[in-house]
Amino acid sequence: MWGSLLSKCTSSPARIILWLLAALALPAAAAEPPTPHYTTVPASPDGIGKVYLGREISHVMSFHGAPWLERTERPDEERPDRVLRALGLKAGMTVADIGAGTGFYTWRIAQRIGAGGMVYAVDVQREMLKALEQQMSRRGAVNIKPVLGSDADPKLPPGSLDLALMVDVYHEFAQPYEMLAAIVRAVKPGGHVAFVEFRGNDPRVPIKPLHTMTEVQVRREAAVHSLAWVATTRDLPWQQVIVFRKP
Ligand SMILES: C[S@@+](CC[C@H](N)C(=O)[O-])C[C@H]1O[C@@H](n2cnc3c(N)ncnc32)[C@H](O)[C@@H]1O
Repeated sequence: MWGSLLSKCTSSPARIILWLLAALALPAAAAEPPTPHYTTVPASPDGIGKVYLGREISHVMSFHGAPWLERTERPDEERPDRVLRALGLKAGMTVADIGAGTGFYTWRIAQRIGAGGMVYAVDVQREMLKALEQQMSRRGAVNIKPVLGSDADPKLPPGSLDLALMVDVYHEFAQPYEMLAAIVRAVKPGGHVAFVEFRGNDPRVPIKPLHTMTEVQVRREAAVHSLAWVATTRDLPWQQVIVFRKP
């Protein structure tokens, strides 16, 4: 825009004013982070061959694996009590459990926020949401709303959430940039976005590498959006909770 205005303008004082305006506008334009691009590689056995900020995206866990999400040893392996403590849940909150699966975390959150709160349970697989609904009706949970999302959109109301939680799912988002941008839009100013991921590069964690993430990588991908890092909880057997705040 500035170039074409300058080339069209012939009077010297007007040209000087335009140069000054252009110089003032440049820092604002430079402050906008560029949208990262996806690249492709030959797909590894657990990946989809799509790379985002140096990380190959993993396959989505199929609903056929749903029993693994409800395994009896899971509370000892993951310590959900500590995960939930790190999230600062309070009665009456509005929370989204994105990639909710069978609802292992959804109903634990629903209990803590109480009848005055609401949990949106978002998933892209109808079969997962069906299993979640069955579990919730068996438990008599009334403050849970299942939502069928898409690869790029969790279909949540803008500015509605106190907290968006992603447990063991961000690494399998097929469109992580678009998903996280949409999640940030759905969070209220001052609200939080939390990633729970199996720790990458940790030989004690018995999970396939593409289904893990390092804290550095999570923070690199969050930094693309309007999110400020708040805290990381590392006292879990295999995972980490990384919390960000939307300014
Ligand atoms: C490994 S499971 C974890 C489920 C649950 N968070 C838990 O910890 O029990 C990942 C889930 O995320 C869902 N998922 C993958 N991509 C998604 C997306 N873009 N939006 C919403 N859910 C997604 C999958 O369908 C699957 O149910």
